[in-house]
Amino acid sequence: MPNPDSQTVIARCRELAAVSEMPHGTFRTFLSPAMKRCYEVVAEWMKNSGLAVRIDAAGNLRGVRAGIEPGKRTFVMGSHLDTVRDAGAFDGILGVVMAIALTGGFADSRLPFDIEVIGFSEEEGVRFGVPFIGSRALVGLLDEQTLQRSDSVGVTIAQAIRNFGLDPAHLSNAAVRNPLGFLEFHIEQGPVLEDAGEAVGIVESIAGQSHATVRFIGCANHAGTTPMRLRRDALTAAAEWMVAVERRAQSIPALVATTGKIDAQPGVSNVIAAEVTISLDIRHAADDVRAGAYHELRAAGAEIAEKRGLQLLWGDSLSLNTVRMDPLLTEALQAASPAGVRRMVSGAGHDAMILAPHIPSAMLFLRTPGGISHHPAENVGPEDVDLALQIGHRFIEDMSVRSPLS
Ligand code: GLV
Ligand code: MN
Ligand code: MN
Repeated sequence: MPNPDSQTVIARCRELAAVSEMPHGTFRTFLSPAMKRCYEVVAEWMKNSGLAVRIDAAGNLRGVRAGIEPGKRTFVMGSHLDTVRDAGAFDGILGVVMAIALTGGFADSRLPFDIEVIGFSEEEGVRFGVPFIGSRALVGLLDEQTLQRSDSVGVTIAQAIRNFGLDPAHLSNAAVRNPLGFLEFHIEQGPVLEDAGEAVGIVESIAGQSHATVRFIGCANHAGTTPMRLRRDALTAAAEWMVAVERRAQSIPALVATTGKIDAQPGVSNVIAAEVTISLDIRHAADDVRAGAYHELRAAGAEIAEKRGLQLLWGDSLSLNTVRMDPLLTEALQAASPAGVRRMVSGAGHDAMILAPHIPSAMLFLRTPGGISHHPAENVGPEDVDLALQIGHRFIEDMSVRSPLS
């Protein structure tokens, strides 16, 4: 019989799944009205667990339980509150809700450090095409150029922050004072743990990723009168390139490449497409393999464009190297786990990826039924949440007796 805490964690994630920008399905983007409602609900849970709540200037929702010497050292736990479109109920939010549940387990103890739970305002990159807005702000990486990026209706990140009643001039209030470490719980979002019949796994590193916005520019013309050999069709060029991307990725072990978003203009059935914009997302645990494939795909795009008399505009939008979790904190997480819990690479990006170079970070994955994520069928088992909560509790207890980090 799973612990009531794990039932509450799952029920809370499911409750938040209904707080959405879509009438049916889950969708929450950076500082949207749905996000505001989400903050109200999560802030209430934080307060009920005795946390002092605030929202920083990057929109991160934060709750602190003070330790013996308030402000001296802070141990951070959390994950993100935003979602992809038509998301599942657990990606991100599970790590926030579990962290809140864990603080409740220490209600009667005064720990030698503060615990801060953070619900990051943005990790998925949906609204502005750049991910990790919340965690970047925590480590001073939300620069002016990023703040000026705009969404599909021309609102910049800085403006969205102001519209929410926050002030981007105060971004320094997002920094963690004297951070001791960071722990993130997250569903695996893949099939490895389920396939092995294992409930949890310890993340050793997070695979690097490169993103680009790729534009093929041809010429619009009449669908009925323009002979095939005289066309400069941006959409068929894009299609040829997308298949080349898939073939190349299939030929390199463990490389994954996705062209998940496409826009064709003018987007009319009897007009040859003049301009097509495609997103590219490419990932691999070895940075040189990823970089090599990225350059090859760019060269393949240029070749296809030239052959078809088109122009290729290539915009790099993100490049993150593979990030290792902190070895000492990871060892402590292993020590708090049952024997035999595996170490693994995360193919998905996480807030820990941004924090790890600045704050010692560790991550625990929970088995994802069916390996399904970024999909409404995403799920997690109560027994697995139960085990992960026990590991988290033991980890914090161990840290409070003898932190591996000083
Ligand atoms: C985040 O979900 C990612 O794209 O890995
Ligand atoms: Mn996600
Ligand atoms: Mn996530």
